Amino acid sequence: MKKKSSRNKTIDFTLEEGKKYADRAIEVKDPVKLETIINQTILGDTFEVVKHLPEGFVDLMIADPPYNLTKTYHGKTFKETDADEYTAYTHRWLDAVLPLLSEKGSLYICCDWQTSMLIGPVLQEKMVIQNRITWQREKGRGAKRNWKNAMEDIWFASKTDDYTFNVDAVKVRRQVLAPYKTAGQPKDWEETAQGNFRDTYPSNFWDDITIPFWSMPENTAHPTQKPEKLMAKIILASSDEDDIVFDPFLGSGTTSVTAKKLGRRYAGIEQNPLYAAWCEKRLEMADEKPDIQGYADQVFWERNTRRFQKNN
Ligand SMILES: C[S@@+](CC[C@H](N)C(=O)[O-])C[C@H]1O[C@@H](n2cnc3c(N)ncnc32)[C@H](O)[C@@H]1O
Repeated sequence: MKKKSSRNKTIDFTLEEGKKYADRAIEVKDPVKLETIINQTILGDTFEVVKHLPEGFVDLMIADPPYNLTKTYHGKTFKETDADEYTAYTHRWLDAVLPLLSEKGSLYICCDWQTSMLIGPVLQEKMVIQNRITWQREKGRGAKRNWKNAMEDIWFASKTDDYTFNVDAVKVRRQVLAPYKTAGQPKDWEETAQGNFRDTYPSNFWDDITIPFWSMPENTAHPTQKPEKLMAKIILASSDEDDIVFDPFLGSGTTSVTAKKLGRRYAGIEQNPLYAAWCEKRLEMADEKPDIQGYADQVFWERNTRRFQKNN
C-alpha cells in the first residue's frame, strides 16, 4: 500500500474502521420531534426521511445535489441523464424538501453550469430567486477542445422577500495594491504592520475560495466535497446564531460542520454510511479545532494571505 505523506490530512478511513462514527448517525423511519434530529446526521434516503420531519423547521437550507454527470459515490452511481429527466428529478427533490423551510427561510443550491440551466427555471417556478453566485473554484476539469470548467453556480432563493441577510458578517479582506490617500489619510483602507488592506462588501462573484485539497484537515475522500469557507459565507450571511441549517444531500458533512463551528444548529441527510461516518468524525474534530480556513478575524481573506491572518 502506498504510504501517505505526513502532510496529507485527508480523512479516508473505511466503514469498518469508522464504525464508531457511523453508529452516531441516526435513522428516521417515523414522524419525529425537532429535538430528535437537531445536531444530528440522518442516515437514509432523503425522499423517504423528509416525510417524517417537522414542517417549517429550517431557517437555512443548503443543497448540493448530484450534478447531471455520471459519478460514483463510493458504491452508488448517479447516472447522467437527459434534460427532461434531470428537470423531473429537480422538481421531485425540491417538492420533497421545501415544506421543511420556514416562511422567512433561504435556500442555496450548488450546481455546475450545465445543471444550472435546468435547475434555474425549476427554482423560479417555486421560489423567489434573489441571486446567482458564481464561484471560481480555481481547480477545474481540463479539456482539450473546450474551455476548462473552473466555475460553479450557486442559486440563492427565498420564500418571500422577507429574508435574513447579514452583509457585514461576510466582508472580504483584500490587499490594497494602489493605496490611494486623501489629505494624507488612507481612503477606505487600513495601514497595518502586515500591509495595507481594505474590507469590501462581497459580490456574487466568489474568487477567494479553493476546493479542499489533501493538506487541509477538512479534506475527505468524498468525490465532490465543498469547502468550509464557501459554506461559512452562506451560513453567516443567511442565518443568525442558533438558527437551524439543513442539508438534504449532506455528503461528507461540510454544511453541518461549518454550521456547528459558527454557532448554528444543524441537521442533514446522507444515504451513504461511509460519508455519514466522515461527517461525524469532522463534527468531533470541530470541537477541538473550530477554525475555518480562510475565515479569520471575522472577515474572509482573499487567497494566499494566510501569513497575514492572526487567528488562523
Ligand atoms: C454533491 S454531493 C454533496 C457533497 C457535500 N456538499 C460535501 O461537502 O461533502 C451529493 C451527496 O448526496 C448524496 N445523495 C444523493 N442522493 C441522495 C438521496 N436520495 N438521499 C440521501 N443522500 C443522497 C450522495 O451520496 C452524495 O454524498
